[in-house]
Amino acid sequence: MWDYTDKVLELFYNPQHQGVIEDKGEPGIKVAVGDVGSIACGDALRLHLKVEENTEKIIDARFQTFGCTSAIASSEALVELIKGKTLDEALKVTNKEIANYLGGLPEAKMHCSVMGQEALEAAIYNYRGIPLDTHEDDDEGV
Ligand code: FES
Ligand code: FES
Repeated sequence: MWDYTDKVLELFYNPQHQGVIEDKGEPGIKVAVGDVGSIACGDALRLHLKVEENTEKIIDARFQTFGCTSAIASSEALVELIKGKTLDEALKVTNKEIANYLGGLPEAKMHCSVMGQEALEAAIYNYRGIPLDTHEDDDEGV
């Protein structure tokens, strides 16, 4: 049995940023999406970012995570940490900051917190129009 902190459990049971962001075509706003992992294989994470174009500020973010308790709590922590930051600032959020935000993670579960950052990177590539992956199909992943 892992020793999860209260914060991990709180965010796992009551995540505030789970879901998707629809692109409503609002002027000056761009919605980007980043995917990591594969549903078929077990762990996967999709992150949507809502970005104000002239400032490159993340005004909202939502995640869908298929993974363990740590992965879900880490996704929530990441979103809470990057909201209000610019894309460049968000890229500087470290794994350690995520773990600290959660009051610590069991050593064996540290890797679960990396998925969120990879999805963030993928979403920023998507925002900047750098091809990394396609997001065409919504089902089984690759
Ligand atoms: Fe394949 Fe985790 S086991 S992404
Ligand atoms: Fe696979 Fe945590 S997400 S063990």
